[in-house]
Amino acid sequence: MMDRHSSELAQDRSDAFGEASEAMDAVRPIPRISIQAFCESEGVARPIERAAEDRRMSKAHVRVHMGGIRAAIDHYASAPTPNLVILETRMAPADLAGELEGLADVCDPGSKVVVIGHHNDITLYRDLLRRGISEYLVAPVSMADLMAVVAGLFLDAQAQPIGRTFAFVGAKGGVGSSTIAHNVAWSISKLFTTDVVLADMDLPFGTANINFDQDPAQGIAEAVYSADRMDDVFLDRLLSKCADHLSLLAAPSILDRTYDFEAEAFSALIETAQRTTPVVALDVPHVWNDWTRSVLSRADEIVIIATPDLANLRNAKNLIDTLKKSRPNDKPPRLVLNQLAMPKRPEISPQEFADPLGIEPIGLIAFDPAVFGAAANNGRMIAETDPKHAAIETFHQLAHALTGRGEPKKPKKSGLDLFGRLRRK
Ligand SMILES: Nc1ncnc2c1ncn2[C@@H]1O[C@H](COP(=O)(O)OP(=O)(O)O)[C@@H](O)[C@H]1O
Ligand SMILES: [Mg+2]
Repeated sequence: MMDRHSSELAQDRSDAFGEASEAMDAVRPIPRISIQAFCESEGVARPIERAAEDRRMSKAHVRVHMGGIRAAIDHYASAPTPNLVILETRMAPADLAGELEGLADVCDPGSKVVVIGHHNDITLYRDLLRRGISEYLVAPVSMADLMAVVAGLFLDAQAQPIGRTFAFVGAKGGVGSSTIAHNVAWSISKLFTTDVVLADMDLPFGTANINFDQDPAQGIAEAVYSADRMDDVFLDRLLSKCADHLSLLAAPSILDRTYDFEAEAFSALIETAQRTTPVVALDVPHVWNDWTRSVLSRADEIVIIATPDLANLRNAKNLIDTLKKSRPNDKPPRLVLNQLAMPKRPEISPQEFADPLGIEPIGLIAFDPAVFGAAANNGRMIAETDPKHAAIETFHQLAHALTGRGEPKKPKKSGLDLFGRLRRK
């Protein structure tokens, strides 16, 4: 006779195979999103845990906690919210809105929230959706139900791509644009444990491979030269892992050919990356041609890195003016002044630099050849080389500003549209 535990397991398995029929077959692989669940019962926690083990969820990061909405509020008071929060609650419909208000206060914009309740109540359902909750399910829920909801939220062809693209470009060559792109991409992955793909778009001379001490056989060249077969599976094969949540699309950095691209050469790659990964950092070389212009025009955010001399100022001004024309409805680029206070070099002061541009720099980074040189030579980030270095503050500021994650979290009071800020814009 089977003991209780193994008979439960057998039951689980037969459920799993039962569900593995049509409903599950229809689900495509879930992108690299983070999902955290706060449950109140084993009956809800278990199908979530099982979904997490499904091959279609292998790229997603799933954590299941107990404690329901209360535990979620405590947790997110001090931690960033994931792409998706799943909350189980036994609370009566009348009390639920008040409880969820506490969550809205600590939830980052852009996170989606799914509630699993124990009341089959259409008024409650409508009310929650109106307030920005993505879905309300009534327990018990099956693994297939859950996968279908996650797929609907993150795979729907009509849904916005989950990934945001951040392009980093120098006002001149050698100003530290790549260094800052790499450090900010790394910081985002560490600070928010969110997945980041970093694309080194400087095919002949890219340095991301050196800065992360990687030597992958494939990378961005395969992605652009086989753009017609680009999809999430192909992209996955070209990525090399640099840290827990950071993958690199490395440049070949060899000169056996020249690299001339059409304006759209990188579009398939960027769109695929955006469909599968929350953050796509683009290390754009300092050149001006059809493809760099099109990449910059379309990025969600642009960071211009400059050093404090006249040529940088003129180039930054031209870049900002040109981008303003091609992106009339976007925020202006962010500006970082780098390699400041280099000994014996005459420099334009940050204020004099910023005034004609009409953009306050988001960060000022001193010239520090010892630390930046050591980091580059050892294939480490600045934070790994000198954890107290002042530049890290700028990397963090950029990480917060670009991702729209405020710091620190301050509870906000709001009116009817409690969850408006949970809703994706
Ligand atoms: N703040 C800094 N202080 C000293 N050296 C720096 C600083 N920022 C970058 N560097 C160095 O400048 C060089 C050029 O940086 P890189 O990121 O390749 O520039 P870009 O991508 O703009 O051409 C690298 O050797 C890098 O280590
Ligand atoms: Mg560069």
